[in-house]
Amino acid sequence: MSGLQTFEALFLMLLATSGVSSNTTSKTGTAPATNVVVEEPEFTDVIENVTVPAGRNVKLACSVKNLGSYKVAWMHFEQSAILTVHNHVITRNPRISVTHDKHDKHKTWFLHISNVQEEDKGRYMCQINTVTAKTQFGYLHVVVPPNIDDSLSSSDVIVREGSNVTLKCRATGSPTPTVKWKRDDNSKIAINRSLNVLEWEGNSIEITKISRLDMGAYLCIASNGVPPTVSKRIKVSVDFPPMLWIPHQLVGVPLYFNVTLECFTEAHPTSLNYWTREDGHMIHDSKKYRTESNVGMPIYKTHMRLHIYNIQQTDYGTYKCVAKNPRGETDGTIRLYTSTPPTTSPGPPTTESYSDLWSNRNLNDSAGGLPHHHGGQHSNSYSGHVVDKNSKYSSNLNEIDRSEQKSFDTNIIYWPPDTNRNNQGATTTTTRSTLSIILNTSMLLLARFSLQ
Ligand SMILES: *[C@@H]1O[C@H](CO)[C@@H](O)[C@H](O)[C@H]1NC(C)=O
Ligand SMILES: *[C@@H]1O[C@H](CO)[C@@H](O)[C@H](O)[C@H]1NC(C)=O
Ligand SMILES: *[C@@H]1O[C@H](CO)[C@@H](O)[C@H](O)[C@H]1NC(C)=O
Ligand SMILES: *[C@@H]1O[C@H](CO)[C@@H](O)[C@H](O)[C@H]1NC(C)=O
Ligand SMILES: *[C@@H]1O[C@H](CO)[C@@H](O)[C@H](O)[C@H]1NC(C)=O
Ligand SMILES: *[C@@H]1O[C@H](CO)[C@@H](O)[C@H](O)[C@H]1NC(C)=O
Ligand SMILES: *[C@@H]1O[C@H](CO)[C@@H](O)[C@H](O)[C@H]1NC(C)=O
Repeated sequence: MSGLQTFEALFLMLLATSGVSSNTTSKTGTAPATNVVVEEPEFTDVIENVTVPAGRNVKLACSVKNLGSYKVAWMHFEQSAILTVHNHVITRNPRISVTHDKHDKHKTWFLHISNVQEEDKGRYMCQINTVTAKTQFGYLHVVVPPNIDDSLSSSDVIVREGSNVTLKCRATGSPTPTVKWKRDDNSKIAINRSLNVLEWEGNSIEITKISRLDMGAYLCIASNGVPPTVSKRIKVSVDFPPMLWIPHQLVGVPLYFNVTLECFTEAHPTSLNYWTREDGHMIHDSKKYRTESNVGMPIYKTHMRLHIYNIQQTDYGTYKCVAKNPRGETDGTIRLYTSTPPTTSPGPPTTESYSDLWSNRNLNDSAGGLPHHHGGQHSNSYSGHVVDKNSKYSSNLNEIDRSEQKSFDTNIIYWPPDTNRNNQGATTTTTRSTLSIILNTSMLLLARFSLQ
């Protein structure tokens, strides 16, 4: 109220000082003694409320009839500021101007605001300086598209598996934007063990006990209905020491065959992966060996392969796959033993006993890493390792003969013989590794095949 009174006082003062003469005897409130009925000025239209994004230009219109010698002024209510009077700009704000449309019967006074700012919002009054001032209002709403303040928001993070991570996003705008979080591959966000969500609302998000599965890019998306919606991509890297999984720890291969050994690793950052013999010397690619490391999905998984060509007696023994990264190191052992060449008979399959090996002691700490590999469906068949069909069997015949002789009186032979076996009688004292080959008549088939 006092604001309004101030306006009126200011307004009248301005009219007096701006040299505008008025024939109205408004100060006394008595009309001039005349028979002519002078029509009072009147507004002919309401002021439209306007919503405008910051930065635009806007004009507010105030339409009046019978203005006569009265004047129209524009004011900003909340700022208690007189902006314009008649054709004059009173405010020092250079973005304000006033025009009016002379040709229209109902004169329209336009208040122009260029490059609208948030502080321009509020109630605009159009006032006529009649005895009792006539006033009408219009609202200017200034909206500001959302903006993410980088300096107050999280940037890419690298954390250790198992730690808690808080990501923040500070968004400004008018109206106040809402912030939503998503993963950029649209997978669920694991807030904690019991809460998985596709979307999370809030300026920050805390992921407790982060796992490697939580690794990836997160998007914070700020929106307030004013386009454009903005987003920030925050990459979360989860570091952990390497882990190994070996599908076949025992691999049998006949002399002169080729064979492939395999290890699966998980590590972040990416581990240095290599193979060694028992002497610890790194195996390099050569005529004898070819190493392969294929990055899987997700990228912290790697499939390591060691191809060994034309197996010689000295090639039997142990091999190690090694994975190292700045968080730690691990290795796993694969034993290569002599086996008999495959048969073409579909007869009883050879079986191989192996156990899944977890060489990493932190297995229980991994929230859903390598255990995916478990399932016992891995082909542990002999043919999975020995695929070559053109080996030189002839030179291997002696070995086969020996094994035949040993096994003639039994349906189960152990090859190579193993004294460590506890529940099945071993026949010799030579100790190698644990492999059982169940055979009956196929031994003969095998012998026949190898003669071809
Ligand atoms: C104002 O008064 C003057 C003299 O007093 C007169 O000449 C003029 O016509 C009047 N103007 C109006 C708009 O009444
Ligand atoms: C402008 O908005 C105000 C309140 O926000 C409302 O009372 C008024 O009727 C609106 N005017 C128009 C022309 O829509
Ligand atoms: C992580 O958050 C959980 C739950 O809020 C808390 O119990 C735990 O102590 C936190 N761990 C660390 C390393 O701060
Ligand atoms: C998981 O997070 C939600 C949201 O922060 C919380 O309400 C809930 O208690 C948490 N659950 C556990 C088991 O920590
Ligand atoms: C893993 O957890 C199981 C059950 O909680 C426990 O029996 C086992 O000893 C743990 N293994 C390791 C390597 O900590
Ligand atoms: C072993 O692999 C090499 C190269 O791929 C091939 O030339 C050779 O024939 C293979 N040997 C056997 C016995 O299959
Ligand atoms: C040997 O294998 C044949 C065919 O695979 C089978 O019918 C037979 O029962 C087996 N003999 C023994 C003793 O297991």
